[in-house]
Amino acid sequence: MKTKGTAWIIGASSGLGLATAQAFAKDGWLVVAGARSFTMPEDRQVGEAYYHLPLDVTDEGSCNAFVREALTLSNRVDVLCYSAGLLSLGSCEETGTDLYERVMSTNFLGMTRMITKVLPVMREQGSGKLFLFSSLNGILGIPFQSAYTASKHAIEGYAQCLAMEVRPFGISVCVVEPGDHQKGSQAYRLKLGNLLQTYAKEYASTCMTIQRDEMGGLHPETLGLKVLRQANRRKPRYRLRIARLDQRTACWLHGLLPPGLFFAGIRAYYVKKG
Ligand SMILES: NC(=O)c1ccc[n+]([C@@H]2O[C@H](COP(=O)([O-])OP(=O)(O)OC[C@H]3O[C@@H](n4cnc5c(N)ncnc54)[C@H](OP(=O)(O)O)[C@@H]3O)[C@@H](O)[C@H]2O)c1
Repeated sequence: MKTKGTAWIIGASSGLGLATAQAFAKDGWLVVAGARSFTMPEDRQVGEAYYHLPLDVTDEGSCNAFVREALTLSNRVDVLCYSAGLLSLGSCEETGTDLYERVMSTNFLGMTRMITKVLPVMREQGSGKLFLFSSLNGILGIPFQSAYTASKHAIEGYAQCLAMEVRPFGISVCVVEPGDHQKGSQAYRLKLGNLLQTYAKEYASTCMTIQRDEMGGLHPETLGLKVLRQANRRKPRYRLRIARLDQRTACWLHGLLPPGLFFAGIRAYYVKKG
């Protein structure tokens, strides 16, 4: 079957990864989607050229097995979208090293692991497009999201280095920065228990604002189509920010206002009095 190219979509069992995989499949790409929940061998082929393979990005062996099997389905990788992610909510004071490690391991180290495996294939081809899912939290922090924010900042720094290194090989990097979107699974929103009384009220208020913003967020299908449009371009843009106007304005103000003033504004938005 003739396809537009091969796209690997990592973290494609729900939310934005799923919407992106579906957009590519509908557009005639061969899609290899990876996630931990794709365990059933009989459900491996879900469309004419749309495959589910099991993948745990925190496990080297699982990543190697995914790459081996994906390359038997198609020996090319024209696009890699890395969307696997985990959000944790809690104060800096109460977030332990184990939780920082867990979030970094899925959001950032899993990404670097997959990219080291796909780059030799793309270099050999002399082409490839990498879409790295960051977040507006890759630009700015909000209270009680330190682990997630740190992981997304790590992606932003890494992506800049990567873009400069791989450009001579015809490989492009696009950092996808979604604002709030609907349909993200609550299974990947870890909330800390045993909150210190000191933070309890502010934490509860922040969580409510985050949940409200996600529920009223943009549609994942639109994001999937926007990523696809970049993949179909000869030269995708470096930054793809997909967010409501007020959230995009916040990113712009972040670079403009003195930090103290900016932090006061963000705090007032998330942490309601009373
Ligand atoms: N939704 C939003 O509002 C929003 C906003 C900004 C940025 N983002 C970013 O966009 C991406 C998708 O978020 P989402 O909220 O749409 O999706 P989500 O529903 O939270 O889904 C996360 C995906 O990651 C996969 N995953 C988690 N741990 C994994 C692991 N160890 N190995 C392989 N896959 C793993 C999950 O599949 P399995 O459990 O089956 O493995 C699932 O498919 C994330 O990077 C997120 O940070 C989302």
